[in-house]
Amino acid sequence: MKVLLVNGSPHEKGTTYGALSVVKNILQENGVEAEIFWLGNKPISGCMGCGACAKLGKCVIDDCVNVFLEKSREADGFIFASPVHYAAASGSITSFMDRLFYGRSAIFCGKPAASVVCARRAGTTAALDQLNKYYSISGMPQVPSQYWNMVHGTKAEDIEKDEEGMQILRSLGRNMAWLLGCIEAGKQAGITYPEREAQIRTNFVR
Ligand SMILES: Cc1cc2nc3c(=O)[nH]c(=O)nc-3n(C[C@H](O)[C@H](O)[C@H](O)COP(=O)(O)O)c2cc1C
Repeated sequence: MKVLLVNGSPHEKGTTYGALSVVKNILQENGVEAEIFWLGNKPISGCMGCGACAKLGKCVIDDCVNVFLEKSREADGFIFASPVHYAAASGSITSFMDRLFYGRSAIFCGKPAASVVCARRAGTTAALDQLNKYYSISGMPQVPSQYWNMVHGTKAEDIEKDEEGMQILRSLGRNMAWLLGCIEAGKQAGITYPEREAQIRTNFVR
């Protein structure tokens, strides 16, 4: 079983990385393979809405989104983490997730996911709500912790002082390992994720 942990910060080893490292260690202690994937600090394009991905099976813009998409096929679970920027997720992870998830529910459906956000002070729940929406639209069970998944600080070392934040991260790691184990046990017993119906796509005009 493998979990991919996305660092959506422009800082490779900042607060977001520190938070993901805590979850990663707990996953590994519980027998789950874990890899942190950094989006880098170069600009990431948003979705152009060209629809080419429907034919190509990947994004027409060939960058970290396609690299991650390939890794996602083999992964069993996901953690997407972001610093809070203006009470929202970072611009990079927003562009990344828009392009990653568009039309790709076959890859993500049934695989558990969770978000983690890091902030100096505020905007955490708004950023979490934003990130969590990708999972609910993609049929991904959302992994809980014991509070909303947030830690506070401005650099990696700060989060160790956020005792409740550290506890939230440890619980999240254990709960992700538990849910992956349940899904695996279910598969062994012949219980698989229900087939998704073809989408009935309406708008507000008809
Ligand atoms: C452009 C920008 C906007 C930010 N907006 C907020 C904010 O709305 N609320 C907040 O508490 N911190 C805000 N911060 C601070 C970061 O969320 C905080 O320092 C975080 O720990 C950085 O994580 P990182 O080291 O992984 O990048 C902002 C930082 C930047 C660079």
